[in-house]
Amino acid sequence: MLFTNRELLLAAKQKVYAIGAFNIQNLESLLAVVEAAVEEKSPIIVAVTPSAIKYGGLNYLASMVKVAAESSPIPMSLHLDHGEDIETVSKCLEAGFTSVMIDGSHLPFEENVALTKRVVDLAHAKGVSVEGELGRLSGVEEKTVEEREAVLTDPEEAEEFVKQTGVDALAVSIGTSHGAYKFKGEPQLDFERLRLIREKVDVPLVLHGASSVPAWIIEKASKYGAELAGAKGIPEEHIKKAIALGITKINIDTDLRLAFTATIREVLANSPKEFDPRKILGPAKEAMKEVVKGKMRLFGSSGKA
Ligand code: G3H
Ligand code: 13P
Ligand code: ZN
Repeated sequence: MLFTNRELLLAAKQKVYAIGAFNIQNLESLLAVVEAAVEEKSPIIVAVTPSAIKYGGLNYLASMVKVAAESSPIPMSLHLDHGEDIETVSKCLEAGFTSVMIDGSHLPFEENVALTKRVVDLAHAKGVSVEGELGRLSGVEEKTVEEREAVLTDPEEAEEFVKQTGVDALAVSIGTSHGAYKFKGEPQLDFERLRLIREKVDVPLVLHGASSVPAWIIEKASKYGAELAGAKGIPEEHIKKAIALGITKINIDTDLRLAFTATIREVLANSPKEFDPRKILGPAKEAMKEVVKGKMRLFGSSGKA
């Protein structure tokens, strides 16, 4: 059955665990996250970005997720990740999404509030929950103190943002970034900032850019020809600490992509005569599924469905 993120995340917040928002873009990635959730008895957020919609088609993707929700014994939501504008949000609402993110994090505060508030009004009228974002997700490693302050979430502003917009969840910037190259040196997150935000904000908090870029996947991909020198993610211990400090939704895309494509490389290299897509994509889906199951255990959502 499909639930809203609000319903799923309030339960997680109460019991101090986090729910994974896993990005999908095709049948294989959807099967990987849903099968993992069923096997781990975990709730899941199935996340779809505007570029995934461009690739897979809104109605194809939404219909597949609805079929998955009807036929799986786990609570699930269908979530628009990084919605950019009212038009995309409206189309997703029509297509039956149960949660939408509006990402106005690149806008000045007042404009971000205004855009997010419009989405809240539209979505809440349909009983759909909304995630907003305050602070930008760019690497902060080589930035000055002033530059860091400009991109990381300000706790006081976060309080004001939630009050003025009525969002159901807030994505915060504490030093993570999207993709496989998050840090050049030691991974560092601003946990003190997260603690202060939690004190000021009562809605569930969201961590984007949370992939760990596991060494074993990088080694496997590199063994079969990938060029990923310098790839580095968020250590699992940091993820545990972020959950203890109040993060209840964790977005993962990069680790799934890495696991999937490393396995495609492996199968193609080891079985050069193979040309049945199912024999190539099947093992890739299984590898993605194992990564998702590991995240559910790490986030504490296993057994919570
Ligand atoms: O923020 C989410 C993604 O990792 C970027 O996804 O390439 O589908 O836009 P995308
Ligand atoms: P990663 O690139 O770290 O997987 O982050 C994904 C994300 O934030 C999707 O919204
Ligand atoms: Zn993101």
